[in-house]
Amino acid sequence: MLRWFEILGRSKFRQSLWYVDGFAGPGEYTNSPAGSPVAAISSASEALQSAGAQWKAGKIHCVFIEQDAKRFDHLRNKLGTDAGNPQMEIHFFNLPFVDGVAALKIQIPNPFSPASPLFAFIDPFGAKGVPFADIKDLLSRDAAEVLINFDSDGIGRIFRAEEAANHEVILNEVFGDDSWKTELARHRASHELYRGVLDLYKQKLRALPNVRYVFAFEMRSAKNTIDYHLVFASQHHLGLEKMKEAMKTIAKNGDYCFSDAHLNQSTMFSFDDPSAYSPQLFEQFRGRTVKYQELNDYALNETPFTNPKSMLKDLEEKSLVQVNSNDSKRRKGTFNEEKLINITFQQGV
Ligand SMILES: C[S@@+](CC[C@H](N)C(=O)[O-])C[C@H]1O[C@@H](n2cnc3c(N)ncnc32)[C@H](O)[C@@H]1O
Repeated sequence: MLRWFEILGRSKFRQSLWYVDGFAGPGEYTNSPAGSPVAAISSASEALQSAGAQWKAGKIHCVFIEQDAKRFDHLRNKLGTDAGNPQMEIHFFNLPFVDGVAALKIQIPNPFSPASPLFAFIDPFGAKGVPFADIKDLLSRDAAEVLINFDSDGIGRIFRAEEAANHEVILNEVFGDDSWKTELARHRASHELYRGVLDLYKQKLRALPNVRYVFAFEMRSAKNTIDYHLVFASQHHLGLEKMKEAMKTIAKNGDYCFSDAHLNQSTMFSFDDPSAYSPQLFEQFRGRTVKYQELNDYALNETPFTNPKSMLKDLEEKSLVQVNSNDSKRRKGTFNEEKLINITFQQGV
């Protein structure tokens, strides 16, 4: 969150920044002192402090929604109602996520009118309580981004358990329609089903108007078992770029690794090895002449990288692409977006 507050705080002139924690929890745990609300408040304070006079945005508003009364009280006692900084405000809702967002919409101030930059962290236990309609509603705002802890395994198990798990109601809510009936029925093995669940969810998010960037981070513990998926969706490339950079730092710290969550791919990310991904880029665009922007979006959505440059360098070294640039002195393997006209992918071997 720190990068999000820092970047927007220094660029969004006079606009309020809103962090919404839809499943906030109690704020602290015996095995891990800082829950997500505590981490968000400390990132917000740090961003305000480090920016000093360079802070251009308005206030930071942190919204905490928690359904359970005991956890809610614990959180409110832990944080207090005063953020201790006149540039920050805290809002609490002891409600289910959906009702909390509805209550937020009618309070003044709120992030919806006027539309302000909003980051929603949605971290439920399991599959319930996050209707697709509400995610769609949040993402319909230009400056909204969501990060969802998505329980693909749990959803897969509900699909398999059928009526015993009330699957029809729950899955219609998760996916926003009943396309899961045909889409998920194709997968036989459990691991394929879980990936299929995630893939379908990503597809649904990508199909939303203006949501151009969707990426699933597969969070694995040090023992290399999949713990959970974090699905990020945004209308802006910078949001996903910064999210990938933040995840890379987490992976470097060693507590977690993460890989991309593709149906046919479960390999760990390899940030320093573009040649592992350049064949995929080549296959996608083989025989076409493409603008850089399209390649950039592909790199963001479909590879671990934040741009296609290292993969293009690898392909150019192998003479698989031809780079058309306005820069007559361009050195091979360098890609200045301002001067690039387009890139031609060969038919290849
Ligand atoms: C996984 S925990 C959240 C952990 C928290 N994000 C953190 O990092 O510390 C999920 C929380 O959501 C709450 N919860 C469950 N269903 C909810 C709902 N429909 N709306 C809001 N909160 C809910 C639970 O009481 C629980 O505290």
